[in-house]
Formats: sequence, C-alpha cells, structure tokens
Amino acid sequence: MFARSVIRATKVATPSQIARASLPKVARASFTASTKRCTPPEVIAEKEVLQSSYSGGEVQRSTIIVGEDAHSSKVSPLTQNVYNTMPKTMQSLSLMGKTVIVTGGARGLGNSIARACIEAGAKNMILFDANQDLGDISAAELHEQTGSTIPIEFLKVDVRDAGAVESGMKAVLEKYGAPDVLINSAGIADSNIPAETYDLEMWRRLIDINLTGSFMVSQAVGRALMAENKPGSIILVASMSGSIVNYPQEQSCYNASKAGVIQLGKSLAAEWAKYGIRVNCISPGYMDTALNNVPALDAQKKIWKSLTPQKRLGAVDDLNGLAVLLASDASAFMTGSNVIIDGGYTLY
Ligand SMILES: NC(=O)c1ccc[n+]([C@@H]2O[C@H](COP(=O)([O-])OP(=O)(O)OC[C@H]3O[C@@H](n4cnc5c(N)ncnc54)[C@H](O)[C@@H]3O)[C@@H](O)[C@H]2O)c1
Repeated sequence: MFARSVIRATKVATPSQIARASLPKVARASFTASTKRCTPPEVIAEKEVLQSSYSGGEVQRSTIIVGEDAHSSKVSPLTQNVYNTMPKTMQSLSLMGKTVIVTGGARGLGNSIARACIEAGAKNMILFDANQDLGDISAAELHEQTGSTIPIEFLKVDVRDAGAVESGMKAVLEKYGAPDVLINSAGIADSNIPAETYDLEMWRRLIDINLTGSFMVSQAVGRALMAENKPGSIILVASMSGSIVNYPQEQSCYNASKAGVIQLGKSLAAEWAKYGIRVNCISPGYMDTALNNVPALDAQKKIWKSLTPQKRLGAVDDLNGLAVLLASDASAFMTGSNVIIDGGYTLY
C-alpha cells in the first residue's frame, strides 16, 4: 500500500519562528518495514530540465533531456545477524541502527548514497526532496528493492523553505527522534554563464539552495541532536568546484556556492565538536549523473575526461563508500575535513 499523510500545522518554539503561528504542511510518503507490496505511483518523473545560456548579452533557452541514473535494482540491507558475525573493524564501518536523512535523496548522488547507507545497516531512511513526483517514486522503489525490511520515508522539503524544513524535522523527531546522520546532497548547478551576464535572480536562487539550504537543514539537525544530547555526523556534498575553477564552462555562482559550503562545513565542525557532532564535506569531481548524462554535453565531457587522470567521469555510486565512512563511527576522529573525490582531476 502506498500511504500518504499530511503533517498538521503546529506552533513552533525557536526564536526565529516566534512570530509564526503555524508550520506549513509537508507532503509525505511513509513505508514501514511491515508495509506490504507497493506499486510505484503513476507519476511522470522529471525528464526535462530547462537550461539558460548567456553569450554576448544574449540569452538562449534550451531543454536538456534528463537521462536515467544507473542504479542497480536490488538493495540488500545489512541484517543484525550478519552484523553480529562481522569483525570489530567492519562493524565500526557500518551504520547499524542509525537513522539517516538524505536531502536531494530522490535522485542522483543522494539517492545512490541513501541506498548505500541502507546496505551499511541504516535502521530508518528519510528522503527530503523538493520534487514530489521523484520523491514518491524513489521511496516506493526503495521500499520494493529493500524487500520492505526497513522504514522508508519521503518528505517534500524544499531546503530553501524554513517552514518546510522545520515541519519536516518535526515529523522526523516525532517518529524517529534526532537522526544520527544527515547527508546534504540537494543542489543545483548553473553553468555556461559568464559572470558579466549572470542574472541576479538566478544567482540568489542557486545560493539559496546550495548554501543557505545546506545551512538550514544542518542547523535543524544540529539543534535536534543537541536537544537530545546525542552525537551525530553531518555530511555536506560540496564539489571540487569549491576549490578549483572548472574549465571550459563559466559557472562563478556554483563555484562560489560550493566554496561557501566547504567553509560552512569547517565552521560547523569547529563550533559543534563540543556536542559530539562531526561535520565533513565530500567534494566530487565530474560525476556521471542524470544531469550530465545527455548528448548536449558530450563535447564538454570529452574535455573534462581529458583533464582527469583516470580519463572518466565518476559513476553515480563512486561516492558511496566515502559517504558511509564519514557517516559511520569508523571516522570518529574526522571532523572539518573536505575530501576531494575526483579521479585525480585536481592534481593537474
Ligand atoms: N553531478 C556532478 O557532476 C556533481 C559534481 C560535484 C558535486 N555535485 C553535487 O552533488 C549534489 C547532487 O548532485 P546530482 O548530480 O545528484 O544532482 P541531481 O539533480 O541528479 O539530484 C539533485 C536532487 O536535489 C533535489 N533538489 C534540487 N533542489 C532542491 C531543493 N531546493 N530542495 C530540496 N531538494 C532539491 C532534486 O530534486 C534532485 O532530486 C549537488 O549538491 C551537486 O552540486 C554534483
């Protein structure tokens, strides 16, 4: 059964919300471990993305056809019995018993990391995403592919929307308590836009999603962990673009946003170490996700590959091992790190 309910508006207590009488409603799809077979909802996933390119003061609008992410169809959750037989080192690398939130978890890198976290033992998986259709489908798929063995939850949360973030967190807290792990993967990219013609509204939108959104969700999870006096691991998916300038495409805003995310991660790590909350960044190079997997980008992809020592883009699941490590207790002494994972691109 595909279950959906709506979270009711309630009063909030944080200083920034005092003036607000109620929280907005957040659409939700919940799958418990006991929910029986489900049929993915009949919805049309996002197949096209509008692109604006600016050249010599001219704006050209085009449509990119979004390809499919290459996910394996089966997700094998780590069971307690198998965990019990594992050596201590492997146990510390697992996420056994942990509750995990992944923003941008409906698609791409976030979705792949969510799958890896389940295989590493996560007890509850919560996806936050702004795209309702994709979120519904992804949660239903994960429920099927895990054999309905762990609770999967999708909450329609746009990370720019303070009210939705608060409502989403409230729902998570009521059901699961403070999450052990937050992975911030929600993000967008504008590229092939020279700085001199960059539209200010587009600039603000990108910074709002990539930087302010990462801050707002991290703040909500940080507060929840502090309130429960519980340790946690927050992971920010930044980009190598936060440390280098990409070539040949111009993308000053994206690069600036990711540099901001890296510095945000370091700052939160320093502030929150005393609460047992670790914060680390993953900085991927070029990844072969749906957005890059389109013929229109073939020429640029050739250049990207030629500048990468491994001569390839990263596969969608190439971040999974690192994400699980950073989420797990095996990285207990790691905080404030920014790990670049790019097939060697930043070596040259
Ligand atoms: N693909 C790459 O080459 C690459 C490289 C470096 C870094 N990254 C970063 O990795 C992250 C994931 O990228 P991806 O390639 O998987 O992209 P993607 O477009 O495939 O997935 C991004 C997900 O985020 C969601 N999202 C977008 N805006 C949102 C918002 N305001 N609130 C909530 N959810 C929102 C989308 O609906 C989508 O499900 C991004 O932060 C991106 O900047 C990607």
